[in-house]
Amino acid sequence: MKASIEKQSPGFAPVALKCSSTAQHCFQRNAYSVASHRCEVREHRWVNDRYKYLKLTAKADLAAATKPGQFYQLKCPSTHDLSPFLLRPMSVYGVGPEAGTVELLYNVTGAGTHALSHLEVGGQMDIVGPLGNTFVLEPGFQRIMVVARGVGLATMAPLLQHAAKAGIRITAVMSARTPKDLMRDEFLRGVDADVHCVFDSDGSSSVEAMEQLVRRLLGAEHHDVVYTCGSHRILMRLQQLLKDFPGTRGEVAMEQRMACGMGVCLSCVRLFDKDGDKKFLRVCREGPVFPISDVVGEVEFG
Ligand SMILES: Cc1cc2nc3c(=O)[nH]c(=O)nc-3n(C[C@H](O)[C@H](O)[C@H](O)COP(=O)(O)OP(=O)(O)OC[C@H]3O[C@@H](n4cnc5c(N)ncnc54)[C@H](O)[C@@H]3O)c2cc1C
Ligand code: FES
Repeated sequence: MKASIEKQSPGFAPVALKCSSTAQHCFQRNAYSVASHRCEVREHRWVNDRYKYLKLTAKADLAAATKPGQFYQLKCPSTHDLSPFLLRPMSVYGVGPEAGTVELLYNVTGAGTHALSHLEVGGQMDIVGPLGNTFVLEPGFQRIMVVARGVGLATMAPLLQHAAKAGIRITAVMSARTPKDLMRDEFLRGVDADVHCVFDSDGSSSVEAMEQLVRRLLGAEHHDVVYTCGSHRILMRLQQLLKDFPGTRGEVAMEQRMACGMGVCLSCVRLFDKDGDKKFLRVCREGPVFPISDVVGEVEFG
């Protein structure tokens, strides 16, 4: 199959990408090309006692096709006691420098990720993607803020790389249970940023303390956008707080339970409210990145 789509990506140069000849599908509007890729495991190691780093290589040019905020659906392997049926969504943690390389950083939690954690270097696995949309990062931005916790680090790490390359200054607010859970180096990956770390263990990550910190940072210097991922509590507090900073936009990469990951099954819909226009949108397809102002926190049915 061959297809070519030319499109302007927010904040990045126009790109023309082609579905590889091995592509099985090429149908998603948000992504330039979506395909199933047979990958080889190049590196797989623990970064702490909960997270693993996984580096895969495919024949297709995944580095060019994948944008910050997008994700892949992973076919987790079966083990003697685990047979994960559904594919598992994982954000892209990094791409390149080789064209076929994609990196993931994942929390080992349930059946799928436990099975995944047993993959050995040299083994094979299938992934589908890239899926979903991307963060808006405009060339005129001067300074951005990222507020990250947990898996949000993996999702937003590529955004930092792109911002740094574009000469945009970065404020990073990182939240974790304890200092040993922080993964600061894994998040920054050599990028220069004004970093503020908060922890559950000393109370500095409470929503009240976080709000004070973010409010102080936004008040001290103009930020074009605040991006977040990884904590619903932080998201809802940012939504309120950003009303006091009308010149600062907000974007969130949502994490929602998914089945197909391609807009078909509707298992990932959430309610959004754009200036009073309420709509259910698919996180996998219209997202996962949405304006913070559009997120509806609680939905009451019936
Ligand atoms: C767009 C997106 C990007 C993500 N990126 C990352 C990432 O970069 N790193 C990372 O560690 N995790 C990420 N997650 C969460 C990751 O998908 C879940 O941790 C994973 O699916 C858990 O699977 P499991 O079989 O181990 O857990 P189980 O609890 O056994 O899973 C059972 C089912 O629930 C789904 N599920 C469970 N937890 C979640 C969750 N938090 N979000 C969505 N579905 C879930 C699983 O996919 C599976 O279908 C992301 C989720 C989404 C939606
Ligand atoms: S996961 Fe099926 S529509 Fe989003």
